[in-house]
Amino acid sequence: MAMGGLDAALSTAANYRVFAEEARGRSAAYEALATLVAGDDTILRFLGTLPPAKRQPNLLFAAARYLLGTPPDIAALRALVGQDRAGLARVMLARRTQTNEPARCATLLPALAQLPPPLALIEVGASAGLTLLFDRYSYDYGGHLIPGSDPDAPTLRCVPRGPVPLPERLPVIAWRAGLDLNPLDVTDDDDVHWLSCLVWPGEGDREERFAAAVAAARRDPPAIYRGDLLTDLPALAAQAPAGATLVIFHSAVLAYVAPEGRRRVRGIVRSLSAVWLSSEAPGVVPGVSVPACQGGPLVLIRDGRTPLACADGHGAWVHWLAG
Ligand SMILES: C[S@@+](CC[C@H](N)C(=O)[O-])C[C@H]1O[C@@H](n2cnc3c(N)ncnc32)[C@H](O)[C@@H]1O
Repeated sequence: MAMGGLDAALSTAANYRVFAEEARGRSAAYEALATLVAGDDTILRFLGTLPPAKRQPNLLFAAARYLLGTPPDIAALRALVGQDRAGLARVMLARRTQTNEPARCATLLPALAQLPPPLALIEVGASAGLTLLFDRYSYDYGGHLIPGSDPDAPTLRCVPRGPVPLPERLPVIAWRAGLDLNPLDVTDDDDVHWLSCLVWPGEGDREERFAAAVAAARRDPPAIYRGDLLTDLPALAAQAPAGATLVIFHSAVLAYVAPEGRRRVRGIVRSLSAVWLSSEAPGVVPGVSVPACQGGPLVLIRDGRTPLACADGHGAWVHWLAG
């Protein structure tokens, strides 16, 4: 999985069938749509005209939604490919799958809260920065409540499993910054519309949570800089205040980086004397043997060595590993 959700070893049709499996139980509409696209020669031919990394189901469905104003079904998608394939290709070539899910903060927070405060946070692959706002959100871990600093920001509900070290209060964050190949701007309506199109239909409260997180971010937008995590981290880390614990973290990012690049991240972070928290699919951080992960699509790893927890991809639960 080196191409952001696409397995280069599989055909486009097979990737859509894999996506249908992933969507099962989350989005019946996209499960059905991906299954039908996998058998639709016209849509597959259209996808074949795009570079391989641009054939992703998430990208196609979000681009169609962006143009149509509503999540597509197979009839709407066929009509779009038939009538405006150039417009659809233009959006797919211009945009990326930069899904920004604030609820992932709930799965990272217990690890952050164990570090010596105050914290200086750098998120690589920050998208629009919604996962940098740990201290603005409130949290509800199965009844264990932690209030955030912005009463109008969403409450992130996350079921704790196993010995999760739940904090009593939020850590003090002295400084924060994001780095992204293509930063999105929470104050830009078009960027926010694109991000909202990446939310799958039928996923419970995700749309409202996203809207509330955007509203909170707009009250005090985080700084997100354009740059590559493989080359631009040292310059950004140099801006962090002395006396704070520097934490470099990312979620759902390294799958987009080629394996050779992933192998370099450990050395880069170590050279900056930073704590490294990664939340990625099992096997994406090289050299870490990940335990059976309770079916969790993300595994939280400290310093490229120690698996801490398995987590739902959209923050619904976190399973802390013993020891
Ligand atoms: C799926 S989004 C995840 C956003 C956010 N971390 C979250 O969990 O909600 C992945 C982000 O990683 C960024 N990205 C991918 N490769 C990168 C690189 N080499 N350097 C910086 N950002 C990168 C993409 O532009 C995209 O915004």
